[in-house]
Amino acid sequence: MKVLIRKDYEEMSKTAAQIVASLVRKKPNCVLGLATGSTPVGMYKELIRMHKEEHLDFSSVITFNLDEYYGLPPTHPESYRYFMNENLFNHINIKPENTHVPDGTVPMEDIEEYCRNYEKMIKDAGGIDLQVLGIGGDGHIAFNEPGSSLASRTRLIALDEQTRIDNSRFFDSLDEVPRAAITMGVGTILEARTCLLLANGERKAEVVAKAIEGPITNQITASALQLHPNTIVVLDEGAASKLARKDYYLYAERMWKELGGSIV
Ligand code: PGA
Repeated sequence: MKVLIRKDYEEMSKTAAQIVASLVRKKPNCVLGLATGSTPVGMYKELIRMHKEEHLDFSSVITFNLDEYYGLPPTHPESYRYFMNENLFNHINIKPENTHVPDGTVPMEDIEEYCRNYEKMIKDAGGIDLQVLGIGGDGHIAFNEPGSSLASRTRLIALDEQTRIDNSRFFDSLDEVPRAAITMGVGTILEARTCLLLANGERKAEVVAKAIEGPITNQITASALQLHPNTIVVLDEGAASKLARKDYYLYAERMWKELGGSIV
């Protein structure tokens, strides 16, 4: 794991956007795995700026999102499809048909086949080159709640109460937060060539330390990234504040730069 620590949310977002942009420039038809939530919003803003001011070209990029609330149609303002359109897709030159967000309206009896097909579409596109990830208060990546198999695949999952409470800030009441979601599995995520985990704020410090430095456990599904050969973690000072090896990570990035290494 490469752990990069930035002074604040803005710097975290810029570093993350630079990592994504450098891949898009190197491989214009790359496959990006994308995430929703508060964490990546700044990164998306920076990517939009790069598109408008620096001609960052998304015309051949393909995207797959991690998850979607089950039961919310794409037109619902809290659906993740709506979020992606509003926060990124509507502002860059990506082809709508190249963007994929799981469909939260698939009938229950078709879910298994739908999820298998989502995985097949990822494979047919050549696999995910770079998967952007946030981390939940309960340590989840995508909606892989504590207890998820570290080999899990795309599936329907019941949302943890903690997740529903965390996300209720976007809804009028806790009751309106969906109780289930379609999510890529931990095993699906681990197949991405590079994973890019972002976290900001002291609120995340404890769970970030557990994910990066604690034991690999299905109780903190983000800890499975320790098994991934190429994961980059970008944190702000707050989210990094409980890392035991913080000084080492700062030193390692300095050394890496001095040696002329590039992050991606
Ligand atoms: P957040 O959510 O970015 O809104 O904190 C992260 C997550 O639940 O994965």
